[in-house]
Amino acid sequence: MKILLIGQGGREHALAWRLRKSDLVEHIYVAPGNGGTLREPKVENIDISALDFPALIQFAKENDITYTLVGPEVPLVHGIVDAFKQAGLLILGPDKYAAQLEGSKSFSKEFMNKYHIPTAKSQSFSDLTQAKKYLTTQTYPVVIKADGLAAGKGVVIAQTEAEALYTLENFLEKDTLGESGHLVIIEEFIAGEEASFIILSDGENMIAFPSSQDHKARDDGDLGPNTGGMGAYAPAPIITEERHQEVLKRVMQPVLDGMKKEGHPYVGFLYAGLMIDNHNQIKVLEFNCRFGDPETQAIMMLVKFDFADLCLQAIKGNLKSTTPEFKSLCALTVVLAAHGYPNHPEIHKKISGLNIALQKGERIFHASTQLKEGETLSTGGRVLCVTTVGESVKIAHAKAYQLIKKIQFDGMFYRSDIGYKAIIRE
Ligand code: AMP
Ligand code: GLY
Repeated sequence: MKILLIGQGGREHALAWRLRKSDLVEHIYVAPGNGGTLREPKVENIDISALDFPALIQFAKENDITYTLVGPEVPLVHGIVDAFKQAGLLILGPDKYAAQLEGSKSFSKEFMNKYHIPTAKSQSFSDLTQAKKYLTTQTYPVVIKADGLAAGKGVVIAQTEAEALYTLENFLEKDTLGESGHLVIIEEFIAGEEASFIILSDGENMIAFPSSQDHKARDDGDLGPNTGGMGAYAPAPIITEERHQEVLKRVMQPVLDGMKKEGHPYVGFLYAGLMIDNHNQIKVLEFNCRFGDPETQAIMMLVKFDFADLCLQAIKGNLKSTTPEFKSLCALTVVLAAHGYPNHPEIHKKISGLNIALQKGERIFHASTQLKEGETLSTGGRVLCVTTVGESVKIAHAKAYQLIKKIQFDGMFYRSDIGYKAIIRE
């Protein structure tokens, strides 16, 4: 098989690594990839943007690509799956309609309400006066969400009415998020513990990946500004076997049934961002129409089966006969970030230590790097993801932080407590 993988982050490096381990895979092209994907055997970067659908389609046709796999949400929300299918090409992911589960929070909330999927109470507004009026009926904190994609900047947990008003004005009037903020959702705040839950569906059947937990805050103890994710581990002990079954039955199955009814069977990865509230109730905070980043980096370490074949079976609608097995181990990934992240990361820093010998169960996935004249340079805020496995989260945690000591770049920082909630439970 020849696979075209779209994207350029840590998630895509982890996916490329897992795909290339398949004996069925001859070659993987990553568009555009990064300094980590190009180091992998059988993997090659190609200089085509993830949003240049005509060029990607032409490349897939000319290079006899067996199927295309999409990492990030933006091409999915813009309809890459519809475009590839129209061109007669195989691709794994939801179509443009189904990708609205991530692309439009108001669509997602309406869908959840229609199909009785547990979620926080909310209302949508495009009119500032009406939104302000609704605020007077709310208690604090309250959550304000921009409807469209906003690269992690579209959710504000307002602690006071003043902060809520300021956010509404920014989104609806001052246009700080452009089109994405022209519709807002005002949502009840749910206290509890979060977990990520990802499945792969062929439109009818699904397989579940181990649950995971992301660390969105920049600093230790979940303090500081929100980021794209500073680390993750899998599985998440808060998702007990009983809760796992509940998520499949009350969240994932209704999405598959609902999308089928809407005439758009959900094919591809589906990620539910869950909150387990203080009454032990599961609520969906968001859906993503793709794999999580950095959750993928941890989860791919636990895969025991042929991942490239699994993706092909999903495209062909053959998941019913598949029972993929995962390692009964724990995986953990720590993001090494650049000074200034998340707002103004410093880039073009030379990275040392990348040639160290790795043991089994240790990987360094690149998130934002490039290879230039023999040196690996940073190109963004999240630079590397140091990923390890162990018999417990505590062991994986110890291994990851040992490995980090060998890597260095100017301004590098990371959280030192990735996995702490699981370690306390262990
Ligand atoms: P979302 O993009 O909807 O997942 O929101 C980003 C983050 O905001 C989530 O990971 C949560 O930490 C937080 N969040 C979103 N919605 C709520 C809510 N209703 N209650 C509490 N926290 C929330
Ligand atoms: N880790 C959160 C996300 O991928 O959206």
